[in-house]
Amino acid sequence: MLSHADNMKMCQTGRGTPMGEALRRFWIPVLLSEQLSEPDGPPRRLEIMGETFAAFRNTDGVVGILDEQCCHRGASLVLGRVEGCGIRCLFHGWKFAVDGTIMETPNVLDPRFKEKFRAKSYPVREEGGMIWMYMGPAELEPPFPHWPYFDVPAENRLAVAFVVDECNFVQLGEALVDSSHLTILHKDIFARDSDTVVAVAVKNAGAVAAPKIEVQETDFGLYYAATRAVPTEDGGTVDEVRLATFVAPFHYHNANGNFLGIIVPMTDTRTLHYFVWWDEEKQLGLEPTRSAILRDGNLTEELLIQMGTHPDTWFLPDKPNRMNNYRQYREAMKNGAWTGIPPLVPEDVVILSSSGAIRDRSKEILAPADIGVARLYRVFLRLADAIANGEEPSALYSNPMTIAGTHFLVPEARLGRILFQSMSR
Ligand code: FES
Ligand SMILES: [Fe+2]
Repeated sequence: MLSHADNMKMCQTGRGTPMGEALRRFWIPVLLSEQLSEPDGPPRRLEIMGETFAAFRNTDGVVGILDEQCCHRGASLVLGRVEGCGIRCLFHGWKFAVDGTIMETPNVLDPRFKEKFRAKSYPVREEGGMIWMYMGPAELEPPFPHWPYFDVPAENRLAVAFVVDECNFVQLGEALVDSSHLTILHKDIFARDSDTVVAVAVKNAGAVAAPKIEVQETDFGLYYAATRAVPTEDGGTVDEVRLATFVAPFHYHNANGNFLGIIVPMTDTRTLHYFVWWDEEKQLGLEPTRSAILRDGNLTEELLIQMGTHPDTWFLPDKPNRMNNYRQYREAMKNGAWTGIPPLVPEDVVILSSSGAIRDRSKEILAPADIGVARLYRVFLRLADAIANGEEPSALYSNPMTIAGTHFLVPEARLGRILFQSMSR
């Protein structure tokens, strides 16, 4: 449970808010490289924490991110022409380089006029098939984090992006530190016959609805362990530990292994969500594996469009929403389905946004199964307070190469510090 004031402090991310200022101190993954694939291709509008930007890939393949509104008289640069190593505003033809340099001002006679000004641009990095930006003060830019998936060939990773409208970013993160919902909300997935990385790893979690939950706060965020006694072939049981993480403020390792959920606020009520899978050996990004993984999570292009979460179409009218009960299919429930919603990711999207765009946490009753959720609040609030107090939280300097999610069987689960310390390497 949180007071209304703390709930708002945690969920509001506009410039000048405590959480908004804290999140702006980190490098933010804002686009998949494939969403801006072509040099001189169409620009894309980015919406991050209530601010909008024009992202473009110039003739040389370099990505630039500028404020969406042209610094001359505010036309949208997303409508602009990407050409000759810059982006040109349609209104009066001013042209900008990726670093904000004004290259041309065709409606101004004095050639030196343009040298006095600059468009607002942001530091950009492109790594691991992802485009990152930094929105904070230049003098406080943190080291760029290196994630394990940067180190595998492009075809060995698979990333998908989707948009969850009417849902604050913290709400989506909660599902990734809440193992008990896996057994209940997602029970239809366990009935499936599939052997992809997604299906195999969640199968064991189907047996026990009230796992033992332990959480350890760390310098990067938290480790979260759920232990279930799962049946063995000889009729006995064995403890399975599913260990997940929250790497503040945007990343969550799932216990399935080389798999990250990334959650970034677009506004206080709209959220950008990515999943990234990678493997040192398997080419997850190539067919048929790629489609099999996306099908298992119900993250195929068709499903994203149907659910109103596709990055290119989420804003179209008449999508599944609270008012139409997300087009829940009650007939399927009569015939044995649990939710009447396409299993797994669509179920999370629907259930988490069904709480209302910013969930009222002053009314919730947290149970022992919700320790991860309560700790998640605490990590977020401490981060916001630390930045507001001028401190340098350790999360700014986390090394993602030393953090992982995993799952394993143990004859007798010995949790607590020993486990977490061994995972912290
Ligand atoms: S508004 Fe962009 S060039 Fe005038
Ligand atoms: Fe879920």
